[in-house]
Formats: sequence, structure tokens, C-alpha cells
Amino acid sequence: MALERTLSIIKPDAVKKNVIGEILARFEKAGLKIVGAKMKQLTREEAEGFYAVHKERPFFKALVEFMISGPVMIQVLEGEGAVLKNRDLMGATNPKEAAAGTIRADFADSIDANAVHGSDSAENAAIEIKFFFNDSDVVSH
Ligand code: TYD
Repeated sequence: MALERTLSIIKPDAVKKNVIGEILARFEKAGLKIVGAKMKQLTREEAEGFYAVHKERPFFKALVEFMISGPVMIQVLEGEGAVLKNRDLMGATNPKEAAAGTIRADFADSIDANAVHGSDSAENAAIEIKFFFNDSDVVSH
């Protein structure tokens, strides 16, 4: 498996629940390293730009409103097979369908307030990381 990076966002619902640390601990326990991190209040333009692939979907407006409803914690995770490993830790998009013990099963309330974002491919990870981080703000260790 290749050493990869992936973009992870702890969404406003999970930040409000004060479980940032619990979520980050799951990444570390699974062997992923946090190589970039920032707390941020997204602007509407940033949220719309980040989720531009979904702009024709019926849930787009609500998704943008939710993503700007409070601060998010954004991190770059690095490790062997980081993209898939993070998706496994997150669980299914709909927390009702998420496997027991996954982040969404444990912390998400609904499909629209589902605690975390994670890149779905290495290609998208590279694009998403660039969206939020300068090269010099991501540091392998
Ligand atoms: P998607 O990329 O399909 O899921 P994932 O976050 O698991 O990669 O969708 C992006 C976000 O859009 C999702 O996390 C929550 C929101 N969303 C809805 O609110 N309703 C929906 O029916 C879907 C499919 C997504």
C-alpha cells in the first residue's frame, strides 16, 4: 500500500459536541498521522467552492448552510492507504447505515449533519488539500 495523504474535516456538529479530540485520537490509533491542521470558520464562498461537485444536487443549499453554521477543524492525515483507511473510520454517509464503532455511527445525528468529511480518492485528496493548505503548512513527521 502506498503512503498517502487525505483531507479530513470535523464538521460543525462534531465541533459543537466538543469531540474534536476523540475523533483525532481515532485517526492516530489507526496509524494515521496528523500532518496539517487548522480551525476555521468557512465562508459561504469557501463552502460552495469545496462542495462544487454537488452544486446541482437537491441537498447542496442545506449542505452549504450546515458547513458554515459554525467552525470546522480541518486536517491532513498521512499514512499507508490513508484515503480508504479514513473512509473506513468515518463509516457510511448516512449514520443510520454506518457500521458500529465508526465515527459517524458514534457522533453523527443525520445524513446532513454527519460529523466528518473525508476525501474519496487520492486524486480528490490532492485537490482538497490544496484548497485549504499551502505546501509549507503540511509537514510529514
Ligand atoms: P457525499 O460525497 O455523497 O458523501 P461523503 O461525505 O460520505 O463523501 O456527500 C457529501 C455530503 O453531502 C455528505 O457528507 C452530507 C451531504 N449529503 C446530504 O446532506 N444528503 C444526501 O442525500 C447526500 C448523499 C449527501
